[in-house]
Amino acid sequence: MNTFPLEPVETAPRAELQALQLERLRWSLRHAYDNVAHYRRKFDASGVKPEDLRTLADLARFPFTTKADLRENYPFGMFAVPMDRVVRIHASSGTTGKPTVVGYTARDIDMWSNVMARSIRAAGARPGDKVHVAYGYGLFTGGLGAHYGAERLGLAVIPLGGGMTERQVQLIMDFRPEIIMVTPSYMLAIADEMERQGVDPRKTSLRIGIFGAEPWTNEMRRQIEARTSLQAIDIYGLSEVIGPGVSQECLETKDGLTIWEDHFYPEVIDPATGEVLPDGESGELVFTSLTKEALPVIRYRTRDLTRLLPGTARTMRRMEKITGRSDDMMIIRGVNVFPSQIEELILKQPELSPHYVLELSKDGPMDHLTVLVEKVPGAPEAGATEKLRHNIKSMIGVSADVKIVPLSTIERSIGKAKRVIDKRPKGA
Ligand code: DLL
Repeated sequence: MNTFPLEPVETAPRAELQALQLERLRWSLRHAYDNVAHYRRKFDASGVKPEDLRTLADLARFPFTTKADLRENYPFGMFAVPMDRVVRIHASSGTTGKPTVVGYTARDIDMWSNVMARSIRAAGARPGDKVHVAYGYGLFTGGLGAHYGAERLGLAVIPLGGGMTERQVQLIMDFRPEIIMVTPSYMLAIADEMERQGVDPRKTSLRIGIFGAEPWTNEMRRQIEARTSLQAIDIYGLSEVIGPGVSQECLETKDGLTIWEDHFYPEVIDPATGEVLPDGESGELVFTSLTKEALPVIRYRTRDLTRLLPGTARTMRRMEKITGRSDDMMIIRGVNVFPSQIEELILKQPELSPHYVLELSKDGPMDHLTVLVEKVPGAPEAGATEKLRHNIKSMIGVSADVKIVPLSTIERSIGKAKRVIDKRPKGA
């Protein structure tokens, strides 16, 4: 079978990779310090200079960067190159306030295309495959990131973007793509639409789904793989760091995501103290860009929770599948709960569908959680709500109401699904 060759750096010995990282990290710190007033001020305030980095571990002495730093410098204050070197601008809308704006030089776009090509190859692409892109195009990085990566590999890109679900299905049937790149929640909507049209999702041309941009559990993976002809593979990224293609699961192992460590240096910290944790311990993921020109990020706090693991399919380290974002954590009567924990329990019940939302309200001074979930059409309802309520209580330790709602009541996403609806009074 024809396959794409790996780049030598993907399997380079760790010592060689670390030497490259150190050299690039020195460059990146210097570049940020010399060209972005914000970084200069922050480094100076912390009493560190780029040349204080002698080993990779010295990075811990440098200050963190957060989304608030990007917002304060809206729109272009964090750019490290003049506008005549910027060839692309993306932005992420965020839930409140101003969007986060990111910029790219031609070399940044080249690097991004390259890491995306690596990602699509790691997911199992073969020469001659056609790639259906259903991530949104536009300011969101998903569509264009996927597009440039697939083209870089030499694959035929079918650039649909999100939405018009009937047409997505028609073109999957007519063009017969082997790969689909889409959020896992929108994949479910596409599979529903296939069934509505009388198409068996297990019998399409699709072989590989490259799913990301939102948290999804291994239970969701099992469900998608059982219901479709796909191998469901995880892709991770965020606009501030580059977009999709920061890390990617490899088809041959499907055991977490290989971080493209030659461009993005990972750390995991204790979110409360900021202390760097050893590999293997769970905490907040932090990235420093090693080669980015237009928008270098130094110790960017992603708010995503995971842990670093040794390499398997590559010598580069892996990150465990993201379990949640610190922003999505609900505190229900003192217990920390992530939507993914509830998702796992829902999907363990074959009569329940993956279409759910979690509603938070106030019950006097207490927070109250209601799980709204749709049943699988035709499946029996008896006992389903009691069982889920019982499992949530015994496995997670919180009391929740569970309601089965009629089919299609839960809004279908065409991009990132919204899993939590917070009905608590503001400021309470
Ligand atoms: O979502 C980039 C992307 C596009 C990644 C397409 C993968 C595929 P943002 O809109 O900036 O960028 O959102 C980034 O989405 O910090 C995570 O919280 C979440 N996220 C992205 N990928 C995953 C994933 C894009 N595989 C934020 N698993 C990140 C869990 C993910 N969460």
